[in-house]
Amino acid sequence: MLLPSSLASLSATADVLRRAGCVFAEDEAALLHEAAASPEELALLVGRRTGGLPLEHVLGWAEFCGRRFAVDAGVFVPRRRTEFLVRHAVALAPDPAVVVDLCCGSGALGAVLAGALDRVELHACDVEPAAVRCARRNLGGLGVVHEGDLFGPLPERLLGRVDVLLANVPYVPSADVELLPAEARVHEPRVALDGGGDGLDVMRRVAADAPRWLAPGGSLLVEASERQRDAAVEVLRGAGLSARVVVCEELYATVVIGTAGTRDPVGRGRVPNPGGQD
Ligand SMILES: C[S@@+](CC[C@H](N)C(=O)[O-])C[C@H]1O[C@@H](n2cnc3c(N)ncnc32)[C@H](O)[C@@H]1O
Repeated sequence: MLLPSSLASLSATADVLRRAGCVFAEDEAALLHEAAASPEELALLVGRRTGGLPLEHVLGWAEFCGRRFAVDAGVFVPRRRTEFLVRHAVALAPDPAVVVDLCCGSGALGAVLAGALDRVELHACDVEPAAVRCARRNLGGLGVVHEGDLFGPLPERLLGRVDVLLANVPYVPSADVELLPAEARVHEPRVALDGGGDGLDVMRRVAADAPRWLAPGGSLLVEASERQRDAAVEVLRGAGLSARVVVCEELYATVVIGTAGTRDPVGRGRVPNPGGQD
């Protein structure tokens, strides 16, 4: 057990954190000092962190797109790289927009997107009760959070009306979950990480149903690893969406954007985008 006196200064706390393997020890020390109301609480928080709990779970919040979102124990911590997906979603959203954040976790993605738009109807869904509770806190009155499997809990009136479908689904191949850092492997639920054999099982299910829910010209945005990019493009194209890839090397982010066809002017249904790709 750490004694409070060993944490009397920021640099002493940073030393303790560094010895425990925290790479950004100074930054973390500052955040933990800010969060603790007393030396005893600081010792408790530092003990949790050096015990391996993700910093965000120790603090109870994560920074995403410059804002702080509540992240409860057992809820996936939104990653910096996913800010890239949200930036593209903001650029694609019409005004007004119907937005669905599938597999919403803490709800941070939908909250940022809704905050960037003037008129939005936002629905978020997750299968994990802890994520649903957390997303409800983060969204407040911004949108409705549903609990259940993928599109299952969405109201049917949204069929064919979704302009932007955010789906940062789990995409780690099952065999690679054991290789993840302990912070994710031990403290985030497996259902938030494991995407099946090649990591794309949940993405396949989302893509297969997406055309029924998307409005004409609406977009599905998914994240993948660099290794999965070609397979992910095929998944979206196989579902009848046009697909393009955008990459941010700085954030190690790969996003595949699938777009639904627009309405045929003579009313024969959807016209796919030219060539089915961008
Ligand atoms: C990689 S996390 C992403 C969370 C959030 N979108 C983000 O980027 O911070 C994947 C989320 O998908 C949820 N999930 C996994 N399978 C699901 C399913 N079949 N239906 C609904 N949610 C699911 C998990 O509970 C988890 O919150």
